[in-house]
Amino acid sequence: MPLTWEQFYAENPPPSDLEQTRHKVENFCRKHLDHGSRIVLITSGGTTVPLEHHTVRFVDNFSAGTRGSASAEYFLEIGYSVIFLYRLKSIEPYLRHVAGAKFLDMLEVDESSENPTISVKSSEVQQILPVLRKYKAAQESQKFLQVGFTTLSDYLWLLKTTCEFLPSFGSRAMLYLAAAVSDFYVPATQMPTHKIQSQDGAPTIQLDLVPKVLQPLVSLWVPDAFVISFKLETDENILIKKARGALSKYKHKIVLANLMDTRRSRVVAVTPDDQTEIILTEEQTQQGLEIEKCIVDYLKEEHTKFIVGSTSQ
Ligand code: PMT
Repeated sequence: MPLTWEQFYAENPPPSDLEQTRHKVENFCRKHLDHGSRIVLITSGGTTVPLEHHTVRFVDNFSAGTRGSASAEYFLEIGYSVIFLYRLKSIEPYLRHVAGAKFLDMLEVDESSENPTISVKSSEVQQILPVLRKYKAAQESQKFLQVGFTTLSDYLWLLKTTCEFLPSFGSRAMLYLAAAVSDFYVPATQMPTHKIQSQDGAPTIQLDLVPKVLQPLVSLWVPDAFVISFKLETDENILIKKARGALSKYKHKIVLANLMDTRRSRVVAVTPDDQTEIILTEEQTQQGLEIEKCIVDYLKEEHTKFIVGSTSQ
């Protein structure tokens, strides 16, 4: 029998710094509640499932974090406060434009004097400047909070904890669940303490089912919020069916359905009685448009209708 979500939380300890994170999230939410702004909790990146307590090996879920981090930038641009619950070392907003070796190539060193200086190459300024401006604006507005996770268990604890502070926003809170969350895990009680030894032969690893937290999230933790989940499939034939299945099971507002191979150019927004294709053409991609901008613009409109509908009831 798979565990219930309550049993999962009872059996898997929270991250050691959960209380510090709780305070951070609480302060952030309190600050932005006063200003009446909309808030979005974005989850991003994949969760890991450790195979050992002192973890050397783990099973990972597919997600680079591009969807979540690009979306965070666009939500900030349109005035939302953003809590970005992301896999540590996955792609981050703003940094994604200049990360990796590319960043070092953008710099030049002047060692002609005793105190060497480092500056951005003039040929790169046009690329960095708009990103830097947006980053600085986000910093100054203090509307952006990052919370990191690595394991599935930490993710589920942080998600639940963050949800404690969203109900005060009522329908102005949106949850944008883009993280790729494992459906399987090794229970803490069945995990070896130390590294699995190859000399003991090929291990047999039994994975248990993870309870779907979308169920308590929608019905108990944030019942008034605008909840959006993602559905990732590799088979077009089952994509919309699975998205509809999730909507009827969890009763949230929209499932954004995407196929692994085409996720950068096509997402279908599935609602209980409709579906809308969000498509990015080749030409738009060449012009530098990202599908996340189209998704966020669409969701902003839908969120507005939802807020109006909720307040007029
Ligand atoms: O990050 P990128 O590389 O840009 O890729 C983006 C993406 C393809 C990862 C993203 O667009 C996406 O589709 N994310 C969701 C993938 C996924 O894990 O779907 P799922 O079928 O496993 O989960 C569906 C929903 O159930 C999710 O909203 C998840 O939050 C929820 N879930 C999952 C597992 C679990 N134990 N409890 C849950 O509530």
